[in-house]
Amino acid sequence: MRLKDKIAIVTGAGTGIGEAIAHKFSREGARILLAGLPNDPVQDVAAAIAANGGQAEAFLGDLSEEAQALRCVEAAVRRFGRIDVLVNNAGIFIANAETDAYRVEDFDRTIRANIRTAFLMTKFAIPHLHKTRGNILFTGSEAGFNGSANMTPYGASKSFLHAFAKGVALEQAKHGVRANCVCPGAVDTAWTRGPGGPLSQEIQDTIDGTVPMGRRATPEEIANVFAFLASDEASYITGALLLADGGVTPGKGQMGDFVPDELRRPPASTLPLRHSHEGLRGKEIFYAK
Ligand SMILES: NC(=O)c1ccc[n+]([C@@H]2O[C@H](COP(=O)([O-])OP(=O)(O)OC[C@H]3O[C@@H](n4cnc5c(N)ncnc54)[C@H](O)[C@@H]3O)[C@@H](O)[C@H]2O)c1
Repeated sequence: MRLKDKIAIVTGAGTGIGEAIAHKFSREGARILLAGLPNDPVQDVAAAIAANGGQAEAFLGDLSEEAQALRCVEAAVRRFGRIDVLVNNAGIFIANAETDAYRVEDFDRTIRANIRTAFLMTKFAIPHLHKTRGNILFTGSEAGFNGSANMTPYGASKSFLHAFAKGVALEQAKHGVRANCVCPGAVDTAWTRGPGGPLSQEIQDTIDGTVPMGRRATPEEIANVFAFLASDEASYITGALLLADGGVTPGKGQMGDFVPDELRRPPASTLPLRHSHEGLRGKEIFYAK
């Protein structure tokens, strides 16, 4: 029970990594406000947590809108009385095009969803985190270190979060507030597997070979990192960018191809995840020919 009695907000909590963070935090004893877009299955995740004996409330709204982000923070305080942890996990990955073909509208959508949401939620949560000496977590990416071809604004939006997390950590240390960023590599969600996403089948098929560990992460493996950083066990960690990328960042070439099959099997899921691959449902994806 690493997060016993903690109150957390998790954004993007209806699907993918956010769903896993929600279940993991609940299992570790946290009560959670789960936030997502109106069509996200956030209420379903809240119901699943309640069915397992936890406490979670759903908040539906576009957190890139100032009024919605403020309402979300206020909803957590109204429902649970305080905020100990803010997880800025919401994001989108909605286009595959070289930079000259990348549509300006997709650039704007990416900046709003990936950067503006995190800025607004952090801004509005900080006064409450001062009271609890709480902490803030961001979902960065290996792409924020390495860049990402054919989705250059996406990688750059994650670099913003890396620097933003460090700046917030420096500034807020004097208030007893920590800030850290988890930087995953390829995770087994709608973004890296399945039809309808921005990665072609050919690219999806080669992903595991580019990972020195020879496979994608499960959402739960990433949620485990969040649970540690959110907990008091991480009391001396702030301003950290924690890579959880199976070795992709230092890796070179198709190193994953050398990993034997028995080591490519991911650990069995222990969380009751139902929406790992639904994050792109209803979102317009642009794919340049
Ligand atoms: N899947 C990967 O391979 C991978 C790798 C590195 C980092 N990440 C990061 O992990 C996070 C989660 O990604 P995922 O793979 O679980 O994808 P996902 O699509 O399943 O989850 C993202 C969630 O955020 C929600 N969201 C988007 N914009 C929002 C807004 N304005 N307001 C409220 N909610 C909003 C989406 O609807 C979705 O439910 C993202 O920040 C992503 O950049 C993912």
